[in-house]
Amino acid sequence: MDHDVVRKAPLFAGLDQESAESLIAEMSATHMERGDILFHEGDQGDRLFIIGEGKIKLGRTSADGRENLLAILGPGEMFGELSLFDPGTRTATATAVAETQVLALSTEQLREYLASRPQVALTLLAALARRLRRTNDVVADLVFTDVPGRVAKALLDLAHRFGRPVEDGIMVSHDLTQEELAQLVGASRETVNKALADFATRGWLKLEARAVLLVDIDRLQRRAR
Ligand code: CMP
Repeated sequence: MDHDVVRKAPLFAGLDQESAESLIAEMSATHMERGDILFHEGDQGDRLFIIGEGKIKLGRTSADGRENLLAILGPGEMFGELSLFDPGTRTATATAVAETQVLALSTEQLREYLASRPQVALTLLAALARRLRRTNDVVADLVFTDVPGRVAKALLDLAHRFGRPVEDGIMVSHDLTQEELAQLVGASRETVNKALADFATRGWLKLEARAVLLVDIDRLQRRAR
């Protein structure tokens, strides 16, 4: 696991190398394969996680069994903190979508750590505030933006976090099936597939297995507005 990636998490803000390494050494590591579940919505939460490698999807299931993805998180991102700050049950199920390594910090460890470094609490608040902003954007998009617009936005967001520049554009290895992509956008698989096929026909992107090559970022950005 690349410790430099882990240190990008808000928990490590302002820590020197030595303190960061001693905190990492205290955390317990878990290795996961695609499909492995770390915790279920409704479980009691007693630790937060930081992703060292891979990707985690956070999903909720409706009473009739439909799934919605709240987010796809990647290296250096934190999750599982809500049930620590507001003691209660997990608000989503966390599942690996690729080979993934996570590091965990227990509630007691976090309390002790924050007591000795209160300034880190501010960084964690900033991370929560960013997440709330993003969630508000997602809610507004669900109300105001059509499915192709939401697909374009989701692809640009994935590109921002997981994209890698290549000769023809930006290669986004998102590791998601088309079903999962649809769950992330909050629409049916058929509608999302139609939007993707339309973008591909226009030459804005090329579809690959669990990846997409974004060719015309400008047009996608305009479609996402
Ligand atoms: P917790 O409720 O303990 O377990 C599920 C986790 O998913 C939650 O903590 C957050 O860390 C994370 N989470 C919940 N909602 C969102 C969201 N809208 N965006 C990103 N992460 C979220």
